[in-house]
Formats: sequence, structure tokens, C-alpha cells
Amino acid sequence: MEKSANNLSEQGKQSATQPESSLLAPTAEQLKAEATADVLPIMQQIDVLATEQDISLSFLEHLLSMPKNNAVKYLHAKARKAVETVYGDKIFLRGLIEITSYCRNNCNYCGIRRSNKTLERYRMTPETIMTCCKEGYSYGMRTFVIQGGEDMWWNDERLGALVSDIRSQYPDCAITLSMGEHSRESYQRLFDLGANRYLLRHETADENHYSYLHPSEMSFQNRMQCLQWLKEIGFQVGCGFMVGSPGQTPQTIHKDLQFIRTFRPQMVGIGPFVATQHTPFAEEPNGSVETTLRLLSIIRLLHPHVLLPSTTALGSLHPLGRELGILAGANVLMPNLSPVENRELYNIYDNKICLGDGIDHCYDCLQTRMESTGRRIVVERGDFVG
Ligand code: 5AD
Ligand code: FES
Repeated sequence: MEKSANNLSEQGKQSATQPESSLLAPTAEQLKAEATADVLPIMQQIDVLATEQDISLSFLEHLLSMPKNNAVKYLHAKARKAVETVYGDKIFLRGLIEITSYCRNNCNYCGIRRSNKTLERYRMTPETIMTCCKEGYSYGMRTFVIQGGEDMWWNDERLGALVSDIRSQYPDCAITLSMGEHSRESYQRLFDLGANRYLLRHETADENHYSYLHPSEMSFQNRMQCLQWLKEIGFQVGCGFMVGSPGQTPQTIHKDLQFIRTFRPQMVGIGPFVATQHTPFAEEPNGSVETTLRLLSIIRLLHPHVLLPSTTALGSLHPLGRELGILAGANVLMPNLSPVENRELYNIYDNKICLGDGIDHCYDCLQTRMESTGRRIVVERGDFVG
């Protein structure tokens, strides 16, 4: 398993140093000028989608099921234009620190679910986390993402102390938390101590689908309530979902998109579902890279200011996944700052890339990859513009 992940990233590295001409895609105007009668009406409907910032279920179904033709290229080109209008050619980095692999939850898709007894668990010390921040800062990262399972050791006091420490040592950086569901009071306290952003994927906006993905003790209402609280408190909030998760349909995706349109999060994280051993969904098929790319573009057009990462899961299922994500309208990358010895243990999903690569290696790798897309990694917090 690991070997194949390494091979994939090797392949990617080689391609990235010799950019394929296919990466340098035509603009929306060029595609439209040369459009044939079969794709022109779709392009016109994409224009309507972009203007109205809304999508019908039937057009969504059409966009997701059509063959890879010039209308798909047009969708991506329009999304690129939309992101460039707001954020120019900038790519923002978020340094990801996976602080604990203990989790009280038992999500059916996730490799660190509590029932996975085969996994050795770890918890970083605050000192190690501060060292990760220091390293990330030296590579120009101005956002730290503190992520982990729902680990009760990281209670209000400990997490609060960590946030305070990072806030005082890095006053010019954004602190993003991604630590799951907590009480409104806990969220408020973390915000008051200096956390700015919170990532909590909603996973699916369809209640029945939510129940299929999660054990009965987890509730759709609570998830949505947490997102609402985070927003009310003043966090920049990120929601999101997996593409191709078991039980997902065009209808559930349409609900996800409607949720994004109305909730108006500052960030949206989407990546393909990756079937993972020692989970109930181990034998399910992986999500599609192609569908993920189309959804990235659709989300960009529905909500043009959103900060949209080209995710590690996308890079794990395709050697050029992250470049393609950027070319589909994403504008954020989340390199891993966790010590290499912990990475394999933070096994949310199988075949993750960069397991053996320190930030020195990943930074150069990402630079080269971004050059091939014509975009530029910047040293900025990369706050939501809007
Ligand atoms: N494949 C892809 N993404 C996954 N996540 C969890 N398990 C998987 C998987 N098997 C995503 C979830 C979660 C985020 C941290 O990782 O959407 O919110
Ligand atoms: Fe390419 Fe990590 S090895 S980003």
C-alpha cells in the first residue's frame, strides 16, 4: 500500500518538473470561440450558473455525468477566472499539524475511528507542536491548522493553552482549529484565546446519508448546530464533504451545494473518499478524481470568494491531483508539518501521499507543482476576501 503511494508521488514529481502542455489549458474565451454546436449550449448554461450562483439538480446531474469534453474544460476555465478575479494568481499555504490520532468517534469511513484497534495511537506534546509551527513559519506559512481526532485529553484547558502559546509567539499568523464537535462555550473560549478559523466538514447535508456514514450516537443536528455556533462566534468557518462517499447521490450533492450557497462558509474542503482498511467501508470503491474536479469548479462558481484547498486526498488518488485541483479553481494547499514518524499513524485514509517527506521536501515539491499551473505560492495569512 505505502509503496504504491510513494510511487504515485514519484510519478507526480517527475511530471511536475516537466510540465505537460495539457496543464496549460485554454481560457474560457478561447474555448467558447471554438465551441461546436454540441457543447455551446452547455457552456451557455455554465455562464448562467456563474451569473446566478445557483444550480438545478438536473444541470448538476448533467455536469457530473457528461463525458470529458470541451464543456468540462470550459467549466474549469470559468472557475479559474473566478478565483483569479478575487485572489489573483496566489496560492495560500496552510501548515497542517495532526496533533492527536485518538478519537472518541466511530465514523464509518475513517481510519482513526475508535473501533480500529489495529492502529497505534499518538498524541503530540505541546513542545513538538510548537516546533512544527516554527518550522512551518520558516517556510513562509502564516496559517497553522491544528487538527486531530476528538481526543478528550485535549480539553478546553490544554487546547486553550496551546492556542494562547501559538497566538503570542506568532501574532501575524492565523490559527485554524480542526478538532471536531465541542460545546458552544468551548468554541467561544478558543476564539477568545486567539483562534481565528475552524474547519468542520459537514460531511453531507442529507440527514439520511449522514446516518449512513456515521454511528447512531452522532447526530446531523449537532453537526449543523456546531457549524452555526462557530459562525455566530465569529470564526472563519470551513465546511465540506467527501466526493464519492458510500450512499452519496446527485441529490445529496445537490443538498451539499445548496448548503454551501446558503451557509456561505469562508472555506470548503472537498476531496475524494478513499476506501480505508479496518473500517466498515473498506471494500467500497474510491471516489472519483474527475467528479471532485468538476465539483471544485462548481463550488468556485457558486461561491467565488471561498477559500478552496486542493486536498491531499486528491493528490493521493492521482499523481497530478493537486495541480488539477488548482486548475479547477482551488487556491489553497495544506502541506503536512507533523513529524514524519507520526504521519503513518494519522491514517484517516489509506495511501496518503508525503508520509515520508519532511516540509523541506514537500515545500520544493509544491513550488515546482504550482509553477506548472502558472500560479504562485505566497507568504500570507490568506484570509477570506469578501
Ligand atoms: N477518505 C477521504 N476523506 C476522509 N476523511 C475521513 N475519512 C476519509 C476517507 N476514508 C475526511 C473527512 C473528515 C476529514 C478530516 O477527512 O471528511 O472530515
Ligand atoms: Fe510532494 Fe509532499 S512530496 S508535496
